[in-house]
Amino acid sequence: MTLLIKNAKIFTKGTLINKNIFVENEKIRKITNQNLMADKVINAKNKIVLPGIIDSHVHFREPGLTGKEDFYSGSRAAASGGITTILDMPNTNPPTTTVERLKEKRRLAKKSVVNYGFHFGSTSENIEEIKNVKNVASVKIYMEKTTGDLIINDDEALKRIFSLPITKTIHAEGGQIKKALELGKDTLSRLYFCHVSSKEELNLIIENKKNNVFIEIAPHHLFLSEQDKEKQGSFAEMKPSLKVKEDQIALWEAIKNNRVDTIATDHAPHTVEEKHQINYPYGVPGCETILPLLLNAVNDGLLEIKKLVQLCCENPAKIFKLKGKGFIEEGFDADLTIIDMDLEKEVNNDSLFTKCKWSPFNGMSLKGWPVITIVNGNVVYNNGNIEHVRGKEVEYN
Ligand code: DOR
Ligand code: ZN
Ligand code: ZN
Repeated sequence: MTLLIKNAKIFTKGTLINKNIFVENEKIRKITNQNLMADKVINAKNKIVLPGIIDSHVHFREPGLTGKEDFYSGSRAAASGGITTILDMPNTNPPTTTVERLKEKRRLAKKSVVNYGFHFGSTSENIEEIKNVKNVASVKIYMEKTTGDLIINDDEALKRIFSLPITKTIHAEGGQIKKALELGKDTLSRLYFCHVSSKEELNLIIENKKNNVFIEIAPHHLFLSEQDKEKQGSFAEMKPSLKVKEDQIALWEAIKNNRVDTIATDHAPHTVEEKHQINYPYGVPGCETILPLLLNAVNDGLLEIKKLVQLCCENPAKIFKLKGKGFIEEGFDADLTIIDMDLEKEVNNDSLFTKCKWSPFNGMSLKGWPVITIVNGNVVYNNGNIEHVRGKEVEYN
């Protein structure tokens, strides 16, 4: 199968240029001025082609919590949001803390319509499993209580895990961030701080930032604040919680100053019924809104396209060593997101693909949307419709 995307502006080597993209055997074969013959042609006039968005932080809930989401529904949400690769978190039921369970998760994930990879879970008892696990993006360390039972309170266990030569993704807030930085200060492996949400946390990490320390920000912390909690109640409750305007400004400032490494959704769906319960769970979905929110910010002059691509494509690929991902270059995987910067639409709960069918951004009018998503050279999302294709598990450099 060959595909030609023509008449678009494409984002390559740090800039937008007018070229055609010729895809063959799932890869970007040629970036060219030629109108090469192909089995399928996409005329992308007045559109922009970006590298497919990589969402390095999602909770697709399988196994065990599939009332909220599963790899099929979650990946459809991702595709419709312009995401071509997701990295799934381990706080499922059972949690992904053994090699055997990871094997089962790999089987379940085969129904994903986008590419996928996994973060492995850690407990105070599974160090041997962590040592044995292969081909995962990272080991996730929960230093605070969240959905599921994955939390490590035991300092000796934390020390042992931090000393392993594997990338660590860390859920920590406030004082726990300090502890994580301390525990990780001598390690050469990567420390990836998830969903940094406050000015204080940000400053603490930035002060200690070495080239193996990375900062992720979630879109809800960029586009919502405490006031939204008053309006939306539990539907605007997640961990870490929404902060005040001052924190939000600090996050944007840090993006501007190149202190932030990635933006990832922390897509954490829960059902409407669950959110109405007195002991509601924390988390909000995000795969379908990350890109329109950021493109709208580009249209508003808050963000450059180049920065967006660094944060959502290039850096996640580099940090998690994803082979063939993150760039529009010859030889790279044909994971591509075609966007329309002039398309203006409202986020609408009824048209979402996530199983939970709600968004904290419902009703928000945004300008700049993904219109076509291509995974391994196959069109998976096209203007509201999802095609039956299958993603693949990522490989690591
Ligand atoms: O709000 C959150 N929800 N924060 C987390 O860290 C976990 C997530 C979930 O899995 O629901
Ligand atoms: Zn978390
Ligand atoms: Zn999370």
